[in-house]
Amino acid sequence: MTTDMTRPLDERIRETAVFLYSRGVIRPEVGIILGSGLNDFADRIKNPLILSYNDVPGMEAGLVSDHRGQIVYGEYNGKKVIIMAGRFHYYENRDMDKTAYPARVMVALGVKRFIITNAAGCVNTDWKAGEFMLISDHINLSGNNPLIGKNLDATGPRFPDMTYTYNKELREKLIKAAAAKGIRLREGVYAMFTGPSFETPAEIRFARIIGADAVGMSTVPEAIIANHAGREIIGISFLSNMAAGVLNKPLTGAEVTEAALRIKDTFAEVVDMALEI
Ligand code: HPA
Repeated sequence: MTTDMTRPLDERIRETAVFLYSRGVIRPEVGIILGSGLNDFADRIKNPLILSYNDVPGMEAGLVSDHRGQIVYGEYNGKKVIIMAGRFHYYENRDMDKTAYPARVMVALGVKRFIITNAAGCVNTDWKAGEFMLISDHINLSGNNPLIGKNLDATGPRFPDMTYTYNKELREKLIKAAAAKGIRLREGVYAMFTGPSFETPAEIRFARIIGADAVGMSTVPEAIIANHAGREIIGISFLSNMAAGVLNKPLTGAEVTEAALRIKDTFAEVVDMALEI
């Protein structure tokens, strides 16, 4: 299936949402976007409905930096969840409409709570690689914004407030619930660089000075879209590595994915709690 990309964004979103509904993706309550190396979480859904992006109108137009690229829908812990396993990164698509498209579709499907996850570099030197951070706020260093262009007035305002993007009450509950299970969740600010090159040590020093605790190449576009529509957002960063220049060694994409694979059970516990609270 190929989508005519010259058609207005809202028409394309509606077409994708109607298609998913017709395939049985009915009223998902929670939308989960999985970060690099974290896609295995989708395998935890029992009796899932799995649709390949290539078979979904509108979704086939985006590039995924991961072999997966699936929408996984099903019931999980008593909730109807839709999972995007395989993210559309800005550095793949060069286009914010494409990058944020899955989040737009989740909004159209009526998702109430977004759980947006990523692997990130740890900028805060009081913390360690291997820890998790709940995003309390973000800094958009991408130089772009997914709301640029015609505003979809039926979804949200032209100038949406960003003061309460990452729900504080849910963050507090999640930190408590995790602590009870012996998992420490940090709380901090996520800065989005476009990538795909990792940051330079000077950029990391800059990120620290402007208040970032973690850096990554995703999450901000989807969070802006979900917040525009007034949905709840929980942002979870897995701090896969210390950011560039913190340790005296180079970074590789492979170490990010390997680190993520090592913690997949703890990650799943955190996401489970994010669904339950
Ligand atoms: N920088 C940017 N993105 C990342 C990093 C990093 O150090 N680690 C994982 N994703």
